[in-house]
Amino acid sequence: MIVLKSNRREMLKHFHDFEFEDILEVGVERGVYSECILENIQMKTFHLLDLWGSKSSASHADSCLDIPLDVNEARYDLVKNKFAKELSLEKVKMHRNLSEDIPKLFDRDSLDFIYLDAGHTYETVKHDMMNCFEHLKEGYFLLGHDFTGNPEELKRSGFGVLKAVLEFTKNNDLQILAYSTDINPSFIAIKNPDSNAGKNNKLKFIESIQNADDILIEFDDAFTEQCSIVGTACFNHAGNWIKRCRDGYENTFSWRITSPLRKVRSLINNFK
Ligand SMILES: C[S@@+](CC[C@H](N)C(=O)[O-])C[C@H]1O[C@@H](n2cnc3c(N)ncnc32)[C@H](O)[C@@H]1O
Repeated sequence: MIVLKSNRREMLKHFHDFEFEDILEVGVERGVYSECILENIQMKTFHLLDLWGSKSSASHADSCLDIPLDVNEARYDLVKNKFAKELSLEKVKMHRNLSEDIPKLFDRDSLDFIYLDAGHTYETVKHDMMNCFEHLKEGYFLLGHDFTGNPEELKRSGFGVLKAVLEFTKNNDLQILAYSTDINPSFIAIKNPDSNAGKNNKLKFIESIQNADDILIEFDDAFTEQCSIVGTACFNHAGNWIKRCRDGYENTFSWRITSPLRKVRSLINNFK
């Protein structure tokens, strides 16, 4: 697993050379990240799915749906206006739905790229990961936001993304390739990495991050396994350290290159 130097906006450059057909963002809000995706990624159709509504109808509701209806109405209109041109060309399609409607809206194995950023509790993410996984094509990409072990964030928000994603990847043929250096990182995972499409797409992605010199730290398999065993607490430490490193980005080049793995390893050993 690779920790990128890039943040979640910058990391999209690694998908410049892919030509996707259908891609999906689950949880759109004001379309801030949708704009980045649209600018950086070639696709035939970009599906934007958000309830933009109240949580009463959601079976896995959490605080992300705790928004007054008039605010959500305004957000829906904002997104509609922002992408008016693409909507008229049917390049963008808005789906005012719950994430649990994904099976009704999309065929299985039909999507090339999904960015998951809807509910953030453990239960919701577990449920959404399964829906996304089933509707993703073999060898293609599932990304998601708030893959964070930051203890303050977890306490404040009740986020269960990290635990749900790590558990899901352990039990399914989904491999996390990398995650971004943000306070709340985004992960990039690939479905069926050993399929023909998986091998090709993984190679293309890895070549792009190597060519762009975008590797901050690379964890070997044993380390990644350790991370999964130690779980959230381990990522808390690594996450905090990565944030400090990012804050000193301009001035700490040699420190950043020479000490990361040793430092993260020793944090984990301390934890154990
Ligand atoms: C964190 S915001 C998304 C931000 C956006 N991805 C970005 O980066 O700019 C989460 C959004 O998910 C939506 N949401 C939360 N749970 C949902 C669910 N179960 N189904 C559909 N939408 C949901 C909320 O309405 C909210 O607009």
